[in-house]
Amino acid sequence: MRVLIIHGPNLNLLGRREPGIYGSVTLQQINDNLKELAKDMGVEIKVYQSNSEGDIVSFIGENADWADGIVINPAAYTHTSVAIRDALSAVSLPVVEVHISNVFRREEFRHHSYISPIAVGVISGFGPESYYLALRALVNIIHKKKEESL
Ligand code: DQA
Repeated sequence: MRVLIIHGPNLNLLGRREPGIYGSVTLQQINDNLKELAKDMGVEIKVYQSNSEGDIVSFIGENADWADGIVINPAAYTHTSVAIRDALSAVSLPVVEVHISNVFRREEFRHHSYISPIAVGVISGFGPESYYLALRALVNIIHKKKEESL
């Protein structure tokens, strides 16, 4: 089983970025934990971070054939990007949307997501744990899909 993990803009700054909201854990630490968790579950992961919308769109298209599902924190593009939503729809893979913060406790503009309607589910507000919950949930979904198609 293979999963893409995609981090959107400014998540490379985790650890020093608004620690009151996002905490002190760095993206490197999150990725290391994801790799460990994936290994324990027998899952291969490919991790990608970009600050550029077009690069995220290209990464999704170029890696879709390799993957069985996608965990994505689209960050600010959650609230703006039809292009990333279309890229995710186009590849027809199960998607779990992740947010470190609880976007519904924050500004009104963060309450709308272009991604949620095409995601299997959304995990928001658990800090870095949101990613680990998302990976577990996605792996369960992919397992179920594979069983159903047998
Ligand atoms: C975020 C929430 C978004 O609103 C924000 O633009 C981010 C991070 C989160 O993980 O909590 O950059 O996706």
